[in-house]
Order: sequence, then structure tokens, then C-alpha cells
Amino acid sequence: MQDLEAEKMNAAKEAAKAVRSGMTIGIGSGSTVNHFIRALGERVKEEGLSVTCVVSSSQSRRLAEENGLRVIEDIPEKLDIDFDGADEADLKGNLIKGGGGALTREKIVAYNSRELWVMVDSTKIKRDYLGRFPLPVEILPFMVSRTLKNLEEAGCSCSLRGGGAYRTDNGNVIADCRFKRIDDPAALERRLKMVPGVVEVGIFTSLTSRIIEGTVDGVQVYSI
Ligand code: A5P
Repeated sequence: MQDLEAEKMNAAKEAAKAVRSGMTIGIGSGSTVNHFIRALGERVKEEGLSVTCVVSSSQSRRLAEENGLRVIEDIPEKLDIDFDGADEADLKGNLIKGGGGALTREKIVAYNSRELWVMVDSTKIKRDYLGRFPLPVEILPFMVSRTLKNLEEAGCSCSLRGGGAYRTDNGNVIADCRFKRIDDPAALERRLKMVPGVVEVGIFTSLTSRIIEGTVDGVQVYSI
């Protein structure tokens, strides 16, 4: 049986090796990122690395601070590298993100980084098409039923996460949008972003520089 936790940890540990003292990095959210934060925290403790980070969720912030990382909210320059997970990734670097609900801040951090390194277990790599994982879209909690109908016109069926009770760190709700398959991620991202009320779409295109896939005994790295 596949040990997905071990794969995530292998990817995260490999990524954490790339951090150098003096870097300002982005940190995303999710269970793979949690492994990354702990691995980096160990290096900070053992090697005395000085690292500053911008994090994409309150949960990652807590863990980063517990592990001795310096967290800031804003910075005028681009971050050196953003480290994040994904729900699905193709080998062109297109991603589905937002399973943990932090997609908007994750995209802001990724966009404002020179590089995005994505750490995933082997089940997240989709060689044919994206879209088996329901696409998370963050929307304003106003006229929600109309916004869901407008999203569905793009060919999906939508449900509100937690029946509408789930709130993001930004106070918004998440529509999980089920498409049969996503053949043109960039076109779909543009289309959904045009719907009023949409804050952000969990499709990430043209941002990824590297995918680190954890395997049972190591990693497979794809440079985009
Ligand atoms: C968080 O909002 C997501 O974008 C995560 O990056 C994604 O859900 C991957 O999470 P895991 O590392 O827990 O699989």
C-alpha cells in the first residue's frame, strides 16, 4: 500500500533543503506544507538559518511561529521562493488548489514570488487532465445562490463548502465546483474570474517553476 504521508514528507524535506540563510520565502498551507514547516524549523534550530516568511493561512502562521520561523505580513519586494502543496498538478505546472480553503492568499503569495515550488505526493500528479478534484472557488457571501448559478453556466455543478458554514481566513465562502474534466485551465480560470462575486479561483497557471513529487524512497523533480 502507498504511504502518502511518507511521500509528502520526502517532498517537503527535499524542498526545505533549498532554503538559504537570508531568504524571504512564501509558505502555503496544507498537510504537505506542515511537513515543510517542521523540516525547515529543524534547520533553523540546528544550523541557525535566518529565514523570513509570508504565510498563506492562520494555521500555517501558527505552525511557522511554533517552529521558530519569522513571519511577516507584507514586503515591497518579491519573495525568493514560495513553497506550497496542491490538490492536483499537471506536468505543465497547472494546479488545482484550495482543498484547505486558503487559495486566495496562496495565489497572492505565489504571484508575488520569483519561483513557486510545488510539493506533492504521487497521487496529485495528473498526466492527462485536471478536474477530478472539485475546483475550489472563493466567493463573497452575498447573493451566493446567484453566484453559484453563474458559476454553473461554465459547465459544472457547485456546492457550498460546509453547506455555507465554512469561512475562509478572508471571511468568504467556498464553492466546490465539479467539472467532468478541465481541458484548458487558463481559459477556465479567466472565465470564472469574470463572474461577479468571485474573489479567486483555485486554478493556478503560469506560476509553477518546479514540482517536487515525493516517492516511497525519495523524490522526482520536474522543472517547468
Ligand atoms: C490549501 O488551501 C490547498 O491549496 C493545499 O495546498 C492543498 O489542498 C494540498 O493540501 P495537502 O498538502 O494537505 O494535500
